[in-house]
Order: sequence, then C-alpha cells, then structure tokens
Amino acid sequence: MSYRITDFDQYKRDYDLSVQNPESFWENVAENFTWDKKWTKVQSGNFSDANIKWFENGKLNITNNCLDRHIPTKANDLALLFIANSPEEIDKRFTFKELLDEVSLTANMLKAQGVQKGDRVILYMSMVPELLISVLACARIGAVHSVVFGGFSAQALAGRIEDAEAKLIITNDGGYRGDKIIPLKNIVDEALLLEGCESVEKVIVHKRVNNIINMSPERDVDWDAAREGMSLNCPAESMDAEDTLFTLYTSGSTGKPKGIKHTVAGYMVWAAYTFENVFQVEENDLYWCTADIGWITGHSYITYGPLLNGKSTVMFEGVPTYPDASRFWQIVEKYKITHFYTAPTAIRALMGCGDEFVEKNDLSSLKVIGSVGEPINDEAWHWYNEKVGKKKCPIVDTWWQTETGGIMISPLANITKLKPCFATLPLPGVRPVLLDEKGQEITSIEAEGNLCMKHPWPGVVRSIWGDHERYKQTYFSTYPGYYFTGDGCRRDSEGFFRITGRVDDVINVSGHRIGTAEVEDAIDQHHDVIEAAVVGYPHDIKGQGIYAFVMVSKNATEKIKEEIIASVVKYIGPIAKPDKIQIVKGLPKTRSGKIMRRILRKIAAAEFDSFGDISTLLDPEVVEEIKSGAILD
Ligand code: WT7
Repeated sequence: MSYRITDFDQYKRDYDLSVQNPESFWENVAENFTWDKKWTKVQSGNFSDANIKWFENGKLNITNNCLDRHIPTKANDLALLFIANSPEEIDKRFTFKELLDEVSLTANMLKAQGVQKGDRVILYMSMVPELLISVLACARIGAVHSVVFGGFSAQALAGRIEDAEAKLIITNDGGYRGDKIIPLKNIVDEALLLEGCESVEKVIVHKRVNNIINMSPERDVDWDAAREGMSLNCPAESMDAEDTLFTLYTSGSTGKPKGIKHTVAGYMVWAAYTFENVFQVEENDLYWCTADIGWITGHSYITYGPLLNGKSTVMFEGVPTYPDASRFWQIVEKYKITHFYTAPTAIRALMGCGDEFVEKNDLSSLKVIGSVGEPINDEAWHWYNEKVGKKKCPIVDTWWQTETGGIMISPLANITKLKPCFATLPLPGVRPVLLDEKGQEITSIEAEGNLCMKHPWPGVVRSIWGDHERYKQTYFSTYPGYYFTGDGCRRDSEGFFRITGRVDDVINVSGHRIGTAEVEDAIDQHHDVIEAAVVGYPHDIKGQGIYAFVMVSKNATEKIKEEIIASVVKYIGPIAKPDKIQIVKGLPKTRSGKIMRRILRKIAAAEFDSFGDISTLLDPEVVEEIKSGAILD
C-alpha cells in the first residue's frame, strides 16, 4: 500500500474522500507505518472542545518508522548527507544503518545521563549531524525534544528552559555560520545563571569549533566522553499515539513565546504524507531543504518527513552567501540536488547579488524547487522560476505554520497547476475557509478573508506546553469552532489560495516569526524608555522589517538607539533587531489607552494619505508629529 498521489484526478478523489470520511481516509494512510499496537479510534475531539486526538491508544515509536523500518531494504542507502560551512571541509555521509546506530548509541547515552521518558531536553546547537541525531535520540527514548534556534539570546534561551523545565541541554562549543562563530556553549552558561533554569541537571557539549569554553565539573559532560562505551542497541520506547513528541517555541501576537506541542502519531502521519505528496521525490533523487532544524521546517522537512519515507536528507551547516553568493548553486551542482526547498528571503537576497552567481553553476539536476515561510512576491517567484528552475521545475509554494506540523496548502509537484505567488490548493485533510470580519464563512468562490480551518488534520497542534487555556484562547476563540491561522488570504475564481500575510500583531522578518509585543517588551527593558510600539513594514529582502516608535525619558542620551538595539539583542537575539527606530514624543492612543497600530503601520509603510478615522484618538496631533519624523529611506 502507499499514500502517494500520482495525478490530479487522484488528488481530487483523495481530497474528496478525506473530507467525506476522514477517519477511513487517515486509517488507510496510517496503516503504512509500523505500530506496536493498533489504534482503537482514528480521531476524536474538535475545534470546540480543543481536545483533539488521532489514532487513540495506538502505540508506536517514530524512530522505528524513520530508521528500523527501512533497514531490511535500505540499510546501506544514504540517509543523511552533511555539508559543512566551509567548502574545503569534507562532507559526511550516514547510511540508514549508520544513522540508526548513531541514534541508538546517543539514546543510550541520554538514558545514562538520567533522561527518562517524558523529560524535556533542549537542543541549542548549530546545523551539525549531531543535532539531527540528538532529535531522533530523544524521540527514541520518549524524551520531549525542544530545539532552540542558535540565533536566540541567553535570555530567550533561559525563558524556554524555564517554561519547559528542561532536565538536560545538548549544545555545541560553538557553531560556524559563514565567517562567524556563534559561541553556543557560552550562551548556555549565561542562560543557566539566570533565574528559572534550576531544572537543568546536565549539559552535554559536542565540540565543533574547538574554541575555549568552560566545563563545569558537576554539570557539563563532553559528548564523546559521554558516548564512550555505549551500546548500539537501544530498543525504541513504545509511545502512546498522543504522547508529546516535541515542543517548539514560536511567537504570537501577545505574551511570551508559546511551546507548540506536537504528539507522536498524528505528527508522524502528517509529516510523512505531506513530504511524499508535495515533493514527489523518487529513487535516486537528492532532496535538500536549506532550513535550520531550529524551526519547524527543519523538523518536518529535514528530519522526519524524508526519513519516514526512506528518502535521504541533506543538512547544510552554512549560509547562502558564504564564501560567496553562489554557495547554494555550487552545492546543487556538486551533489546533483534534484529537490531544493528554501525561503523567499534567501531567494530575494541572492537575486539582489546579481545573476552571475546563479549562472556560474550547472543546475540541470534540479527537478522541483520549493518556497516556504512567507509570501513570495512576484519578482522573486519569476526569478526563482527562470534563473534557478530554468522554467522546467515546478515551484511548490508551501503554506503552513509551526502549529500545523506540516504543509497545508501547496501545489503537489508536477500534479497541480501552478500560479505565480499562489499556494494553490489544500492537501487532502485540509479544509480551509475564509471568514469575514463577523466570523461568517464567505461562500463565494472569489473572496478575501481570514484563513481558518474547519476540521482537525493529523498534524494540528495539540496544546501549548503548560497552558492549555492559552491554546484555546489563541486558536479557537476568535472564531468559535474554527482553527484561526492568523493569516489573511485570497481565493480566486478557480478556488486557488493566495496567502496575503499576517493579520495579527505578528511580523515575519526573513521568514522568522516575531511578535511585536515581545520586541516592545525587550525595548521597554531600557530604563530610559517610557513606551514603545513596534510594527512591521515592507522590506525588499526580509519581506518585513521591524519599525519601532519609542518614547524616551529626558535622561536618554544620543546613544539611545544603539542601546535599544542592544536591549533587543539581549532579550531576544539579533534576528529581532529593529531596522528603524523613531524617537517620538507620544504614541497614537485611543481614549481607552490602546495604541492604534493601524496608523503606525501606515506611517511605517510611508502611506500617509489614508489613515481612516482618527477621531477616536486621545491626541490626534501626535500623528502629525510622528508623520513628520518618519524614517523613509
Ligand atoms: C507563518 C508561519 C511554515 C514553516 C515556516 C514558518 C507565513 C509560511 C508561507 C507561504 C505565505 C507563509 C504565514 C504563517 N508563511 N509559509 N508559503 N506563503 N506565507 O513557520 O514560523 O510558524 O510561521 O509564516 O504567515 O502564518 P512559522
């Protein structure tokens, strides 16, 4: 049996089946996997009770499905290809058997360090094979992995450690990123001095860059030393279908980052199913996703999706512009990459470097190219199509979110008709609707509205770690009975979907999701800041840039802007640095004290003629003042 869709008629048939009888549809898909014990109920719960379960009472381990299951037929096939930051450094290859051995050994090491089923393990690492191995090692023993992207600061890391009550951290001494070294272990040390991180008992340190680090004798353990003498045999823990597989922190419109909780069986089925059908990878192809495992894309489409389908995956440690802007294309040529999956921000940045970089290399191996993370603009779509895909590779523009676990709306490569900048059609199991301001479903085909989902799919987020109330509030309270994505969307006359971007206070900077409230909090930490308001504005390369309007006290010096940036770097990390900071005398507030961000967004976008109704403002004059000081460049 297989769950591969091979043509558009089958897509339509499968889509209809998945809507008419979701339970029998997903049961058939799930039967392709290895289970220790079969489920008793395919699906229960809904978007009203917020108690969604898939494959209830089933028992399984996702690593059996990623690794052991393929050993009889693929033991010596390539599972993981690691490409280092420096083009001079030799690559590393792991067959399925070798990867299974590494994962088993590492799993035994974690057990020996005291990690038990259900414990949370934070992975704060660069893109080295040991990261992917550690992810799977956690999954093998039922520990909850929580990967924290290496660009987050000590404070941000500490917040996640505290929220997860993590028992153990795995890190590198440092990570290569282009010509820089990120001092990961030092950042862990700094985080662990902060309040709230007392749960951490051990820090395992993998040496990658050989910089000087401190090893705290009771707490820190060298990766190699810890793994010495460990057995290569580690039977996989039999997990309940709804046990937590991982949490991954992401930003919302309010409050601290949320630990998005995904559970074993539903996530597995969704990651596997969507990978297989969107990318259509065949034997002897080589698929490469350029994301970092610190984000959901790296979980679902570097780690789990490919391996679950017995396909090889590529991990690239470096950045697209090091040593120069042809690095991606050198890799495509050298390894004859057939499937290439990246973010619009990378495409735009490389487009800006000039065509000579993309024209130097032979890209004829490419068959399918993908885009993820943010809306792709028309110019970037066409450049990608012409210069990279040479007009012969379908572009799969994949819309999804950390919360959805996997791709939701996307063309299936070589199956779905393409339309520039359209994510096109929903995958089987996905029932998108557009709601108007009143929360009514818009029934006309051609429409624009807020994108919601009508029915649970296997990969949907199950909870927010430690705060189920917030889960209900965030996703199911805006439009009762629906899952609200936070995105706006258009549907054309053929029913094709085009995502227009966030409609809430989340900004998408280079495909990184950043909450305006979080940046405001970081700016407010500065003692000379009275109040800050942060909005996104259109940015040529990053998609959106961060614009901060800040009221400061009389004591602020001319260094205030630098200090504000330093504060954001300290509390969140360099990815959330404001691009523009405007010092203002006041912020536009309603009589009830709410900041009117709508106006600030207009000013930041240099749209000065259409503020709409500002009569409810407490002090309409501040608008003039802010307008006259707007940073336009
Ligand atoms: C938000 C989710 C999906 C994994 C990486 C980002 C935006 C994502 C697209 C796309 C237009 C997109 C949405 C979404 N987004 N993919 N193909 N077209 N917008 O995951 O950090 O959870 O962010 O990214 O606004 O809500 P994330």
